[in-house]
Amino acid sequence: MTMTTMRFSGVGMVALLLLLVVGSCSADECFFVEGEVYCDTCRAGFVTNVTTPIQGAKVRLECRHFMTKAGTVERSAENVTDAAGNYKIELKDNRGSEDVCAVRLLSSPMPGCGEIEKGRDSAPVALVDAGLATKVRRASALGFLKTEPLPNCAKILSDLAIGSGANN
Ligand SMILES: *[C@@H]1O[C@H](CO)[C@@H](O)[C@H](O)[C@H]1NC(C)=O
Ligand SMILES: *[C@@H]1O[C@H](CO)[C@@H](O)[C@H](O)[C@H]1NC(C)=O
Repeated sequence: MTMTTMRFSGVGMVALLLLLVVGSCSADECFFVEGEVYCDTCRAGFVTNVTTPIQGAKVRLECRHFMTKAGTVERSAENVTDAAGNYKIELKDNRGSEDVCAVRLLSSPMPGCGEIEKGRDSAPVALVDAGLATKVRRASALGFLKTEPLPNCAKILSDLAIGSGANN
């Protein structure tokens, strides 16, 4: 590093970082989708007290314009989950409320917990932020199915049903 760049780095870096932050996300063109990926240890289709987070699961955010045929992917971005099973995906160049987006499960590195069930493998992402001053959209949690459910799942699920009231 030369003396010039070192002297520049103090104030310069701050300005550069500010520029990057502001420059990378303006107006409705870019946003983050956050969510989590878990191992559905009871193959229940929802989070229970025995679901576990999956680290390193790959997910993809897929978007299309609402006028484009369903099933078409026009823009996408991928990422992997952290140790807590959480992911964050940045999507650039989105077209605001005219976009239809969903997060889809791609792969799981967890042995015995990598099964994907059609219909439960994606979560829609609401792009309209209802006036909130945020660039973050939250997607519902998604689970890979454990091939062999845990032995106590029958009890867990029936306790859940009773606890939440059968008529809810
Ligand atoms: C992937 O996740 C990391 C960690 O949260 C984040 O820094 C990075 O920007 C993400 N990549 C994309 C394409 O969103
Ligand atoms: C989960 O809930 C079931 C049923 O309520 C209970 O028997 C079990 O101990 C719980 N397991 C954990 C890990 O909290």
